[in-house]
Amino acid sequence: MERPTPDRPYTVLSCAVSIDGFIGGVDSSLVLSNEADFDRVDAVRAACDAILVGAATVRIDNPRLVVRSQARRDERAARGLAMSPMKVTVTRHAELDPRADFFTAGDAERLVYCATAHVVDARTRLGSVATVVDAGDTVAMRTLTADLAARGVQRLLVEGGGVVHTQFLTADLADELQMAVAPVFVGDSAAPRFVRDGRFPWNPGRRAPLVDVRKIGDVVLLRYALSSRFEEA
Ligand SMILES: NC(=O)c1ccc[n+]([C@@H]2O[C@H](COP(=O)([O-])OP(=O)(O)OC[C@H]3O[C@@H](n4cnc5c(N)ncnc54)[C@H](OP(=O)(O)O)[C@@H]3O)[C@@H](O)[C@H]2O)c1
Repeated sequence: MERPTPDRPYTVLSCAVSIDGFIGGVDSSLVLSNEADFDRVDAVRAACDAILVGAATVRIDNPRLVVRSQARRDERAARGLAMSPMKVTVTRHAELDPRADFFTAGDAERLVYCATAHVVDARTRLGSVATVVDAGDTVAMRTLTADLAARGVQRLLVEGGGVVHTQFLTADLADELQMAVAPVFVGDSAAPRFVRDGRFPWNPGRRAPLVDVRKIGDVVLLRYALSSRFEEA
């Protein structure tokens, strides 16, 4: 019997945090991981159909979000896929620079989910470099992921930042979490944390299953199974 098509992609949340729980500097990007861990993340990216980041991450980190390894790019091409996964961002205000690496690096498809109030601005600014999707008055991650599934995305990697991670977790839309803990302190409470305030399905009364702990040089990778769909690979 054929398995039913899931109504949302298998979703992996990925982040690097400092020992004191921060994911960046105050309004600035921060390199937390090491080369070996970046390579691990590259492999995770190569195995996905789409990578999602929040608009603040596009503005602050200016990430390229492309598969770096030529071998992995070739392997994707051999499978008939684009060299890198589709890039996805979400915004209310659409204040994004079309020259940002998110829009210019690589040749993967780019989607911008935008709240209705700023869709016209978004299409004017970004229409030549991305597909702007009117995501309704408030962009709900459940609706967004259902739309991605309808576009053929079966595996989604969410690379932050904290505002986005919070919504995936509180809406119970994450299947696993991969958290790399870097041996540094940020030491400034104004810096962004992995998550903001919220009601999380994982709490002192319901602990998230830890499925793997791996030392990668000076970084520790923690892997948590967050749904019954968790895949061991
Ligand atoms: N260490 C890591 O692994 C890692 C990874 C990624 C990012 N970071 C860091 O994280 C920081 C940024 O994270 P952040 O938590 O401040 O922001 P974020 O999650 O990257 O982006 C937040 C922005 O995304 C848009 N957005 C999010 N949810 C939305 C919704 N439901 N509807 C409409 N728009 C929505 C809004 O954009 P608009 O303002 O455009 O409306 C919002 O301001 C940076 O310092 C970056 O360096 C670290």
